[in-house]
Amino acid sequence: MCHVRYRRLLIAGPIFGLAFAFASHAQSAPEEQGRATFQRTCSPCHKTSRITTHRLSRAGWENVVDNMISRGAKATPDEQEQIVSYLTANFGVGRRAFKNAASGEQPAKLGKRSVPAMMPPAPTLDDSQIARAKQLIKSKDCLSCHRMDGQGSFAGPDLGDAGANSSARQIRASLVSPKEELAPQNRSVKLVTHDGNTVIGKLLNQDGFTVQLIDATGHLLTFQKEDLREFTIVTANSMPSYANKLTPQDLSLLVKYLEALRGTGQQQ
Ligand code: HEC
Ligand code: HEC
Repeated sequence: MCHVRYRRLLIAGPIFGLAFAFASHAQSAPEEQGRATFQRTCSPCHKTSRITTHRLSRAGWENVVDNMISRGAKATPDEQEQIVSYLTANFGVGRRAFKNAASGEQPAKLGKRSVPAMMPPAPTLDDSQIARAKQLIKSKDCLSCHRMDGQGSFAGPDLGDAGANSSARQIRASLVSPKEELAPQNRSVKLVTHDGNTVIGKLLNQDGFTVQLIDATGHLLTFQKEDLREFTIVTANSMPSYANKLTPQDLSLLVKYLEALRGTGQQQ
């Protein structure tokens, strides 16, 4: 078991909302806020590249967001509006390219699919390399924390998204020298009920009385706040370093494989 640190923030009660400061923390530009709301709301159940490979009108995105809310995604009307605006502006009809809102990079066109500007074209792998990479992901137990091809755990980010979110260099760094602190969108919450049950999961939503989580196995769970004894945000990254657990060849292959999923929105 990996060592996990928790940052104790608070114990139930009206200050509950504070715990979520991380989720909506000061982002000046509305664009950045839209992106943050989108990532927080839309990443718990499936990789976001399954969303951002679509090109839809505003009405189309409204439909998608409504549909996802009926499936368990949680957002206030205001957050829904932010998400729809963000998606329409960046992934609207006629938008060929992925616009990297965070860095303001210009869109780059690359064949039918698109990739963030500045990122080199995704590498291609032959069938035996793909098979080897998939085998490594299974045998190294990556799926005890990650999802891939619709399998595995909801605890960490979906590996199918890594190539779209990160460069090869960043993917390699995640594997050999993982950061100690989790990125905000990867944080979990830990709940302890009065009768001693402990649950860890990704926060989907909370209101005055309830909290909703998706746990590592993908179950949606709802708790009454009055039943909770403890509520903490997990900020420590549980991912171990694979620097000494993979041969240099296997490491390079895994990086290449994850990078190759960039922009396709598909599993290979
Ligand atoms: C509570 C879980 C959950 C959350 C949160 C969620 N979705 Fe989904 N989403 C699903 C399920 C279930 C499916 C359909 C089953 C599948 O293919 O995995 C799906 C499928 C999709 C698809 C179709 C993907 C494809 O391959 O064509 C899109 C687009 C989508 N979601 C967008 C969103 C957006 C936008 C958000 C944020 C507002 C969101 N989802 C949040 C559960 C969720
Ligand atoms: C004990 C749980 C755990 C295991 C096992 C694990 N990871 Fe992770 N991994 C995480 C978490 C949590 C994060 C998010 C870190 C962050 O927020 O910076 C992460 C992040 C990553 C990232 C960066 C994602 C991105 O979008 O940039 C990659 C790539 C990755 N892991 C690959 C792997 C691979 C490949 C394996 C198996 C060889 C593996 N992980 C095993 C928990 C784990």
